[in-house]
Amino acid sequence: MKKIAVLTSGGDSPGMNAAIRAVVRKAIYEGLEIYGVRRGYAGMINGDFVPMSLGSVADIVHRGGTILHTARSEEFKTPAGQEKAVVNLEKHRIEALVVIGGDGSFRGALALHQRGIKVVGIPGSIDNDIALTDYSIGFDTAVNTVVEALNKIRDTATSHERIFVIEVMGRNSGFIALTAGLAGGAESILIPEISFSLDGVCERLKRAHERGKIHSLILVAEGAGRGFEVGEAIQEKTGQETRVTVLGHIQRGGSPTALDRNLASQLGARAVDLLLGGESGLMVGMTAGKVSQYRLEEVIGRKKEIDRELYELALALSI
Ligand code: ADP
Ligand code: F6P
Repeated sequence: MKKIAVLTSGGDSPGMNAAIRAVVRKAIYEGLEIYGVRRGYAGMINGDFVPMSLGSVADIVHRGGTILHTARSEEFKTPAGQEKAVVNLEKHRIEALVVIGGDGSFRGALALHQRGIKVVGIPGSIDNDIALTDYSIGFDTAVNTVVEALNKIRDTATSHERIFVIEVMGRNSGFIALTAGLAGGAESILIPEISFSLDGVCERLKRAHERGKIHSLILVAEGAGRGFEVGEAIQEKTGQETRVTVLGHIQRGGSPTALDRNLASQLGARAVDLLLGGESGLMVGMTAGKVSQYRLEEVIGRKKEIDRELYELALALSI
């Protein structure tokens, strides 16, 4: 194998650049030629390939976003789109590919693997909803962004003795809400994996209020409800003044934490090693502190379970 390529796909996440850097530098270190595909699978269909050098990934380890840009491509979901992508890879004599992205991107990676292209996936998503890996790249940074926001909101919440509802990302999952909620001391955490009633939330608020707690932070994962609706309902039910903050795409940006950079560096290097070893159709991940690998078929569509003990602990500590 002489030539490989790397791309980022789906929603971006802080640390994707560190992963690109690791893949490029490890590939060159091993004597390979490496290309970047710009704008994910859309770029593969359009032949948007750029040669990568050691210098092309200089000064990016600390930057959020992705220098290769990312995209969502409906065309790539079709056999005709995939065929165009394969033709372009062959035209450039690219034999193998590293795909950095989430579940959807891995479905695309599996399609390429089934068409004879060697592919390894690296989990990149702030949602941390990719099964079998403890962490996906960008999650830790997003959690720290949310915790920083909670610290600030807590200041004003205390001053005004208000209830705050904070909506965080997590289309189908509550990993950001749960992890940041525990770290930030949120009174209630509403996530799609665990059923809740707003009456129950208000009951907790009332009890806390009676004990003299004068402010409350309620974290809502977007998959569990809209922050403004939850805020309105709570104000109505409790009669207490409530404010709402939607953190939105702030959670997707910023300089990656050391954890995300190191994760990206380790997974990037392992992905290249696997391709050099002739492997394909795999995802690299971090499980119990060890770099590990799984078949894409095992990962795709598998629901990553939330840690219920952590959820109970968060509730217990915020009475
Ligand atoms: P993520 O990778 O963050 O989950 P998406 O779900 O948007 O993001 O997927 C990213 C891209 O992966 C899609 O725009 C599409 O090009 C490709 N993709 C998603 N699902 C499939 C599929 N079933 N088959 C082939 N390609 C897919
Ligand atoms: O990266 C995952 C995610 O942040 C989801 O939690 C969110 O719903 C979605 O991406 C929004 O992405 P976009 O605005 O790019 O469609």
